[in-house]
Amino acid sequence: MTTTKPVADPEDTAALEADLLAGFFDDPPTVPPRWFYDEKGSVLFDRITRLDEYYPTRAEAEILRARAAEIVGDTTTLVELGAGTCEKTRVLLDVLAGREGGATYVPVDISTEMLDDSARSLAADYPGLRIEPVAGDFLALDGPLPGEPGGRLVLFLGGTVGNFTEAQRAAFFAMLRGIMDPGDRFAVGFDLVKKRERLVDAYDDADGLTAEFNLNMLDVIAATVPCEGLDPRDFRHEAVWNERESRIEMWLRAVRDVRVEFPGLGLARTLAAGEGIRTEIARKFGANGLVEELAGHGFGRPGVWTDPAGDFGVGVVVVD
Ligand code: AVJ
Repeated sequence: MTTTKPVADPEDTAALEADLLAGFFDDPPTVPPRWFYDEKGSVLFDRITRLDEYYPTRAEAEILRARAAEIVGDTTTLVELGAGTCEKTRVLLDVLAGREGGATYVPVDISTEMLDDSARSLAADYPGLRIEPVAGDFLALDGPLPGEPGGRLVLFLGGTVGNFTEAQRAAFFAMLRGIMDPGDRFAVGFDLVKKRERLVDAYDDADGLTAEFNLNMLDVIAATVPCEGLDPRDFRHEAVWNERESRIEMWLRAVRDVRVEFPGLGLARTLAAGEGIRTEIARKFGANGLVEELAGHGFGRPGVWTDPAGDFGVGVVVVD
């Protein structure tokens, strides 16, 4: 019997090699969270969103349900960055689809398969809505955005903005401002600071799903670039609250000395037992922190909503 390794998309290989060069040989080594999301990782994340410990998805859905009309406002084109399955967006699409004169939904996602599936099912459920999916990395949008200037709503949900460092957030907001026009709005979901135990439990659940999700990144790396010595059995999942940086950090901690080689890069690195690879940061904000930051990038007239428990926030700002 022969086993065949799936052939990685050459674009993914190049993108991951660039990310490894940019972070894996730093101290500490880092790999961006984008590489969690192969098919298995996406399924695991979907299961995580239904865990008791993982409150953000439910809290955000509650806000969207309560505020759909205000969030959609008089939007004619809804552009969603990192749309995924588009499931949580449906409460907004229900409002958008009811608009006179028609409206357009533009889901943007790096996963082409997911985008095709979602677009097909949305087209069936919202016959009056134009659906124009865009496959690509939402960090590298080269505008102009589709739709009528001033009538767009750019949606960035899930708290994914928390995955960025301060510098990455600044670059992201500047990029968005560059491709949006006065009157366009930006809606962003963000997680709020709360007691340490609840934050850590959300990223280190009792069923071990988050551990599996984190460790799966090693398989994604090994399937995407030529690689020796990256074995999930040599690592364990760790989630820690970094109070000073106001963020959860996910680490893959080596349980023994590990030597990782990337023949394609001509580079190798040894991790001593106890050394970790940081795979994700998840920044937690105060209620007004993000909209204040956005004000510095030309986004004004802020509105912020939280769920009744005060766990999660959605901010909406308007391009000045
Ligand atoms: C999808 C990026 C918002 O940071 O909470 C869930 C990903 N990581 N459990 C998050 C995630 C670990 C999630 N985001």
